[in-house]
Amino acid sequence: MDKLIIRGGRRLEGEIRISGAKNSALPILLSSLLTDERVIISNVPHLHDITTSLTLLGNMGAEVVIDEKLNVEVDPSTITSQTAPYELVRTMRASILVLGPLLARHGRASVSLPGGCAIGSRPVNIHIRGLQEMGADIVVENGFIEATTHGKRLQGAEIDLGMVTVTGTENLMAAATLAKGTTLLHQAAKEPEVVDLANYLNTLGARIEGAGSDHITIHGVEQLTGGHYRVMPDRIETGTYLIAAAITGGRVKLKDTDPTLLTVVLEKLQETGATIRCGSDWIELDMEGKRPKAVDLVTAPYPDFPTDMQAQFTALNAIAQGSGKITENVFENRFMHVQELQRMGAKIELSGSSVTVHGVESLTAAPVMATDLRASASLVLAGLVARGNTVVDRIYHIDRGYETIEEKLAQLGASIRRVPGNYKGQVVREGSASE
Ligand code: EPU
Repeated sequence: MDKLIIRGGRRLEGEIRISGAKNSALPILLSSLLTDERVIISNVPHLHDITTSLTLLGNMGAEVVIDEKLNVEVDPSTITSQTAPYELVRTMRASILVLGPLLARHGRASVSLPGGCAIGSRPVNIHIRGLQEMGADIVVENGFIEATTHGKRLQGAEIDLGMVTVTGTENLMAAATLAKGTTLLHQAAKEPEVVDLANYLNTLGARIEGAGSDHITIHGVEQLTGGHYRVMPDRIETGTYLIAAAITGGRVKLKDTDPTLLTVVLEKLQETGATIRCGSDWIELDMEGKRPKAVDLVTAPYPDFPTDMQAQFTALNAIAQGSGKITENVFENRFMHVQELQRMGAKIELSGSSVTVHGVESLTAAPVMATDLRASASLVLAGLVARGNTVVDRIYHIDRGYETIEEKLAQLGASIRRVPGNYKGQVVREGSASE
């Protein structure tokens, strides 16, 4: 298992480009199972979760070709299996996104039930109930979701999801594209990734209306065609690099992104004292060498503050002026980074679903490790400002969601390098004198 070594204390400056969105590319690639024709997806990020998705499609019999520009071409006409095995679902919960497309196109699916994970129990009951309401017969046996339509088409239905679920909305929306009749999804997730998936499916001939609102209408069609689609920019990667600039007092310009996807995140960053300028596909943040001010925030489904940016703001508050209260309302266990940040000298009090972070002037390096993707990102951010060499272990979490993070941070001037898992280098602790 590789590690990252970060020598803190450098102010980040420069320009980098933002990759395609992981959480769009995953449902887009996996819902290619809805058609029999070739699709070409561009701006696909080079990430472990993408490799897992392509392996999943390949295992089912789809032909997958990646060209030199990282366009991914999927030919699903050769599918012979409708099974998502435990070995793959275990490493990537988003594998559940094959359930709706397989059932809608092939009339059956056998998908390993994802277990709980580091950020919460994360059940998939709403995915299952919605498909049952569309006429599927589903049982959970031996750890697998066994679903069949008994050779019939799914039926359009009026489904109230009951709570906001991103992949739940995506699974049901995708399945409904081939259902007989019209499906109405109430309390649908409004996340931009849901809209991106709807736009993709519509380019293949689906008839989806209202994506991005609480109510999505899907008029079922007999079949989908092939097509070409470009994945939207990754708003969470964008936000993470903006924080990297803010936490180090630096200035970065991020290209190939979309500021309209990050309205509340940009507002929070302005509250920290950063100056932000935007164009249609770029964002520049300038902290002018200042120490950020701590902010309060509450996570909630889009368009409110994203849970996937919570850990990074916790790291920012850790070195900010003043105290900030952060409340996590989406996942019940998403504060695993707090103990690691405390080991670096952060002053954080945890109480139920909130933390209060009292900013300190500086953090100190420590060997740290994280249990999920965004928590790992927060430790890298903390490492950028800690005195000494921070060693972040278990970075396979980061590789699931951040394309070449060490190259991008190095391009902005960070001192960071990847070392193999057996690295035994010393963790250098600096004295309290400022550098
Ligand atoms: N939930 C249920 N039942 C369900 C589905 C969800 O109770 O059937 C609950 C969950 O336990 C959770 C809440 O609903 O408490 C919201 O979960 P959601 O289903 O929206 O999460 P998800 O679809 O599994 C996606 C992203 C996550 C992101 C969340 C919230 C993908 C592949 N994953 O997960 O991304 O945190 O939405 O925005 O799109 C990440 O990228 O690091 C990541 C974890």
